[in-house]
Amino acid sequence: MPTDEFIVTPWHVEGEIDYDKLIKRFGTEKISKQLLTRIEKLTGDLHFMLRRGIFFSHRDLNAVLNEYEKGNKFFLYTGRGPSGHTHIGHLVPWVFAKWLQDKFGTNMYFQLTDDEKFFSKQNLSLEETKQFAFENALDFIALGFKPENTKIIIDTENIKTLYPIAAQVAKKINFSNTKAVFGFSNDTNIGMIFYTALQSAPCFIEDRPVLIPLGVDQDPHFRLTRDVAPKIGKQKPALIHNIMIPALQGPGGKMSASDDNGTVYTTDPPEVVKKKINKYAFSGGQPDIEEHRKKGGNPDIDVSYQYLRIFFEPDDNKLKKIYDDYKSGKMLTGELKAILIEKINGFLKIHQEKREKARNQLSKFLLENS
Ligand code: TRP
Repeated sequence: MPTDEFIVTPWHVEGEIDYDKLIKRFGTEKISKQLLTRIEKLTGDLHFMLRRGIFFSHRDLNAVLNEYEKGNKFFLYTGRGPSGHTHIGHLVPWVFAKWLQDKFGTNMYFQLTDDEKFFSKQNLSLEETKQFAFENALDFIALGFKPENTKIIIDTENIKTLYPIAAQVAKKINFSNTKAVFGFSNDTNIGMIFYTALQSAPCFIEDRPVLIPLGVDQDPHFRLTRDVAPKIGKQKPALIHNIMIPALQGPGGKMSASDDNGTVYTTDPPEVVKKKINKYAFSGGQPDIEEHRKKGGNPDIDVSYQYLRIFFEPDDNKLKKIYDDYKSGKMLTGELKAILIEKINGFLKIHQEKREKARNQLSKFLLENS
């Protein structure tokens, strides 16, 4: 693959992503300064993920805000394909969704697609993906969502609710549409071919506009949903996209839940986190201390720095100091990693406690089929 090439699809991310190019390729809109100002006016403050361009692109965000200002509330929807335990990268859109929910006072739906991961992964049984769905749900609940305004959808459990909507959508997508978007071939199983209809269904679960915070790799599904919406008398879903979270081993590719060493799981104990970061986190530092002191490191490609920027250091001043010190050579790679390890373990200690408490709450969050 040429170095300037990259692939972003829901099932395959590869290469170093140029996000401006991706915006053009996908036909989305960059989040502009004006849009940030508009959000800040409505919410009172800007989440650091917006300030830092972690959420960088959107579709029709202005339209949902227009409706909101007229008193027509939107609801939120996002999801997760339960192919393994949750890793810290998954939490990015969920934490941001919680912020949106608090600021805009909305309902929230979280879809766990046990069917999708059964269809797309050779080595997983439906029992396993369903088990992971329940485990992943705990991480979601642990972020502070409340059962009064938040519902968790599990595809194989909630099919009775989803199917009538999915059927409306499915009738308006033909095989050449999905093939054009996903590159399916004759040996793709037909579960995959139908699947977009199921991921679309929660968009229309309430009769009001929806906003979907999501990893940009999921955009292709909703491009189809947006084409279908007017054909079934519905509004197009609005989207707000986050960048892909890099794997520990480095820029290019996203964190994959199926690669143990490339991933920090929310269930990892502190020693494991320490070992993974020290051993695997790609470093933007120089080969030896002397050279590092002289030339400085490169925070822009350093995965430990990127994790601080993306999730673990919300304080802009502290982050800037780390950036400057690392770049000047004052801070060594080992010191940078130590900061990250402490941040992750501090977060996980609390998260893991909340995650265990969530087990008793789970049933209150599960959507009941009507
Ligand atoms: N397909 C997504 C995944 O593999 C899961 C998902 C379902 C989702 N519905 C969603 C993601 C809505 C974002 C928004 O992770």
